[in-house]
Amino acid sequence: MTVAIVGIGAALPERTVPNSHFTHLDTSDEWITRRTGIKERRFMAEDGHLADLALDACRDALRSAGREPGDVPRLIVATTTPDRVTPGLAVEVASRLGMPYAAAFDLHAACAGFVYALDHATALIESGRAASVLVCGAEALTRITDRDDRSTAVLLGDGAGAVLLADVPGAPAPRFVLGSDGDLIPALYADRRDRVLRMDGREIFVHAVARMSEATREVLALQELTGDDLDLFIPHQANARIIHAVAKEIGFPEDRLFLNVHRVANTSSASIPIALAHARDEGRLGASGLLGVAAFGAGITWGAGVVGW
Ligand code: ACO
Repeated sequence: MTVAIVGIGAALPERTVPNSHFTHLDTSDEWITRRTGIKERRFMAEDGHLADLALDACRDALRSAGREPGDVPRLIVATTTPDRVTPGLAVEVASRLGMPYAAAFDLHAACAGFVYALDHATALIESGRAASVLVCGAEALTRITDRDDRSTAVLLGDGAGAVLLADVPGAPAPRFVLGSDGDLIPALYADRRDRVLRMDGREIFVHAVARMSEATREVLALQELTGDDLDLFIPHQANARIIHAVAKEIGFPEDRLFLNVHRVANTSSASIPIALAHARDEGRLGASGLLGVAAFGAGITWGAGVVGW
């Protein structure tokens, strides 16, 4: 059984918010662009439903795979900002999508959630427990943003992305390296009391580069690969400087690195599948290839992987 991505989808809220939106916070387009690479992001309506975006992303992924939802037995939604405390976002999305009685659950591993979900979906298919798995990353980070805190408010956006994983004979075997370090909770967290993200940006920056670089090196070594074997590398789109620092650290060529952080900012667990959909839309994906992914988030959690499409 060899697993690969057979469908890709994304959905963004309609409202585009440029950097000029934040000038009342004593910041500027120049500061945000230079320190992060972000030019704009999408915000969901305050009364919007994240399930609507997740549903559209999943539909897009199934359409691009040419598969019917009823044929997919499992849905994993990576999210930290679901519509309800319970049930999970995945249950509503599976039902509205038309996946009757599918196993559906949410996975919370902060911004690394999508990579964690890819690993789990791969294991389910490789073990024969599911013929295909729909993996979605969906976030409404505006729900946990302190709008008066310029050090975080400018970084975050909303959106959803999805991939369908299935058995593809002859595809390269996907592999993932995952990890967490709870000692770093104080550097990035949202607690139950005020429900907004608090972050030590400098500390997160340093650990993000170190953990993503190390995990990427490790996962490439597992498969006896080098960066030259990857057709495209999509790190978590948190900050262009972090992405370029990771590429430099592992010696990965800039021309096979994909960035869309300037368009969507940090969408946490939705960022890699949204970037993958944008890479497809920009003609950066050939008929088949090998994708590298890497992510980090609150916890901290991190993960890196290689997977074919
Ligand atoms: N506009 C203007 N000034 C700002 C802003 C802003 N939006 N934000 C912070 N500053 C100020 C700071 O207050 C600081 O001022 P001081 O020197 O007087 O204290 C100064 O800019 C420099 O701050 P640094 O933190 O050193 O700036 P840095 O170059 O590190 O950039 C940034 C800050 C962009 C936050 C960077 O540290 C970063 O990207 N860190 C990683 C963040 C990240 O990726 N988080 C991901 C998790 S989010 C999630 O999980 C959903």
